[in-house]
Amino acid sequence: MSDQQRSGAEQDGFVFTPRKNGQAQSVSDELAAWMRTGWADTERRDLEPVAQAEHTARRRAALSAAFPGERLVVPAGQLLTRSNDTEYPFRAATDYAYLTGDTSDGGCLVLTPRADGGHDAVLYLKPRSNRDNGEFWLGGYGELWTGRRNSLSEAADLLGVATADVRTLPDALRADAVTTRIVRGHDADLDAIVDELRADADDEARAKSAKLDEDLGVTLADHRLVKDEWEIAQLQLAVDATVRGFNDVVTALPQAKDTSERYVEGTFFLRARVEGNDVGYGTIAASGPNATTLHWTRNDGPVRDGDLLLLDAGVETTTLYTADVTRTMPVSGTFTDLQRKVYDLVYAAQEAGIAAVAPGRPFTDFHNAAQRVLAEGLIEWGLLEGPVDRVLELGLQRRYTLHGTGHMLGLDVHDCAVSRQEVHLYGDLKPGMVLTVEPGLYFQPDDLTVPEEYRGIGVRIEDDVLVTEDGRRVMSEGLPRTSADVEAWLAERMPR
Ligand code: GLY
Ligand code: MN
Ligand code: MN
Repeated sequence: MSDQQRSGAEQDGFVFTPRKNGQAQSVSDELAAWMRTGWADTERRDLEPVAQAEHTARRRAALSAAFPGERLVVPAGQLLTRSNDTEYPFRAATDYAYLTGDTSDGGCLVLTPRADGGHDAVLYLKPRSNRDNGEFWLGGYGELWTGRRNSLSEAADLLGVATADVRTLPDALRADAVTTRIVRGHDADLDAIVDELRADADDEARAKSAKLDEDLGVTLADHRLVKDEWEIAQLQLAVDATVRGFNDVVTALPQAKDTSERYVEGTFFLRARVEGNDVGYGTIAASGPNATTLHWTRNDGPVRDGDLLLLDAGVETTTLYTADVTRTMPVSGTFTDLQRKVYDLVYAAQEAGIAAVAPGRPFTDFHNAAQRVLAEGLIEWGLLEGPVDRVLELGLQRRYTLHGTGHMLGLDVHDCAVSRQEVHLYGDLKPGMVLTVEPGLYFQPDDLTVPEEYRGIGVRIEDDVLVTEDGRRVMSEGLPRTSADVEAWLAERMPR
């Protein structure tokens, strides 16, 4: 077959499939030959390991010790098609990022057990695109389209782990019958290969092997509960960038009043992007009654004087650690009496919650402390009937408080969700854990159980708190929290 008919042909392992609406359906021999030549050697040979490398090595060693004699497969995940030949922005799987420090798509970490104990770690990655067979410019996923990748040797130097071509991974997995666990749900092809390895198992054995995979995910979530020094520093970077984003939003409030909640969302996102970061979850920019919808991400409502604006947003660093912060502010600059009353109760609940964050305290304490303050306030206002212990026992305050008072924070905004209850939900706090404390009160616009003037008010205050050796540190203390300080913040920053 001549190069003129290269379309659909396979050459050196690369299949050129012309784009469906592509204008160039074939490649002349002359162009193909010319594109093979004339490229500089850009290989970097002087790379030092990234700062995270010593931490990822320690994390892999901890995982190795938990699963002696078994092969562990931790995929990064694949690009997800948005439409036709465009994809959603990629975000590497959390456990993969935790164990490798890599954030690129399509890779996979494999820990293979050694006869003498321990494991060998190999990071399977996409290599640089082949220039001889045209892959680098003819396929939509070649580097000419998507940007230069690290070579396998560059990645090994940077990440401090052996690397190999990910296209060799399926054969490597099939070649060895060792017991294998995979962090499931990120890479359908690899999940299928692991299933294949278990294909001759009966139903009972298959059910047991599904549990193998689940246990791997649970163990990793358990390991991620206590953050190391490097992770805490990354979270602080995320929080500090988030503080700058909130300050920008206050400065931009007049433009938001002229447009919509979108201006708030966009302003925060701009700050994240210009500093090289992203957001860790969909920004909630909720003004007026939208603040009573917990995950309001439509952000298409008006921002009006007299209303409260609830902004729940978090910058995610390039290393994938995210902040999760909420402030509720009066758009006009000043709370009404009722808004202040609601805000101050939520603040008091948050203070009680933060005070209950300390090493050795049960994880549930901060939630219970905050809920008690909220329930007492709601009883005092005549919205609930006491006594408070009955209200709390029956959970009646939840009609207005709706959600738990906080959650672990780290690589995931709701971090370590699958970890074992005895070390997380029903465990004790330990130094190095990071959690949010985020009580709220929400009076739905159509809730007939509260006086009309309460309806449509939603307030949440959310901060990120590190458990220290002797107590706690509020990582997001760069933002004001009391109603008076919020007003002073608006007065200082919002142009009038
Ligand atoms: N932003 C979601 C949450 O606060 O949990
Ligand atoms: Mn939040
Ligand atoms: Mn949160």
